[in-house]
Amino acid sequence: MTAKISLRSVTRQFVVRPARGSKASAKEPTTLTALHSLSLDVRDGEFLTLVGPSGSGKTTLLDLLAGLSTPTSGEVLVDGRPVTGPGKDRAVVFQQYALFPWRTASANVSIGLEGKGPDGRKLNRRERAAKASEYLKLVGLAGFEDRFPHELSGGMKQRVAIARSLAYEPDVLLMDEPFAALDAQTREQLQDELLRIWRATGKTIVFITHGIDEAVYLGQRVAVLSARPGRLKEIVDVDIPDRDGEDDIRSHPAFVEQRHKVWTLLHDEVRLAQDAGHRKILPDGTAPDEAPAAAGTHESTLERSAA
Ligand SMILES: Nc1ncnc2c1ncn2[C@@H]1O[C@H](COP(=O)(O)OP(=O)(O)OP(=O)(O)O)[C@@H](O)[C@H]1O
Ligand SMILES: [Mg+2]
Repeated sequence: MTAKISLRSVTRQFVVRPARGSKASAKEPTTLTALHSLSLDVRDGEFLTLVGPSGSGKTTLLDLLAGLSTPTSGEVLVDGRPVTGPGKDRAVVFQQYALFPWRTASANVSIGLEGKGPDGRKLNRRERAAKASEYLKLVGLAGFEDRFPHELSGGMKQRVAIARSLAYEPDVLLMDEPFAALDAQTREQLQDELLRIWRATGKTIVFITHGIDEAVYLGQRVAVLSARPGRLKEIVDVDIPDRDGEDDIRSHPAFVEQRHKVWTLLHDEVRLAQDAGHRKILPDGTAPDEAPAAAGTHESTLERSAA
């Protein structure tokens, strides 16, 4: 197997402020373990979906892959090389569209083309507009080049964001609940479009979602994370025979069975996370029940097994 992405025993901890009003003995900063010793390989060209309870470290994992943060221990490799920061080989699509309101759809897409291209040459304005059009067409927005974000629906805005990510010509697309804010119908439409784009471009995709249906529908494999601290609980292989010939894949017995498997795995973890709910980070950034920083991972592990 060619691993495009390799996570090797990755642990990510955050140092957080002690809770307001906590005991004098608990005044020192505390350590929160978001991910604990997680190992995972993603194949070149694979579509991997990632599910886990809220707070299980999914976004933390994506940030590590994007190079927006570094692991506390362990290794994050892309193409066998350690990730040292963001790179044009990896593009991120967030839940919020993050478009510039003062730029047209075309100008939003061409942001990624303003530097030097993959061949080291700078594209001129006309070439950039042509490329932007090509990617807007790929996401079903041909003819919308000159529209501003406020003139587009939520689904259209997310299409523009996807087109912008693709315009970088990254090998890897990292997507953090990109369709969560959309209505059910638009979401299903975009899921199909993403599958079409994935098949057409052969990108490696890591896609985070809270939707079990979405995870099974899109992923070749579904990675299930445990409640915090996030570890890899299980990887479910999605195997739906005659997928391409089916109209309503979601009703296929194989889909129903694999959906149920993911649901069961996730359900147990969500309950654990809920039981530990009072230990969650508060909005002010404090972690009332976390272990002191010096105690580190071990305490958090104990905390989880005690939950
Ligand atoms: N910069 C940070 N500083 C301190 N704690 C953080 C930071 N980023 C994340 N955390 C904590 O790490 C844990 C994992 O957070 P993360 O955002 O990765 O969860 P998630 O699985 O993406 O959750 P959700 O499904 O709600 O988006 C949480 O307890 C969160 O509070
Ligand atoms: Mg998240």
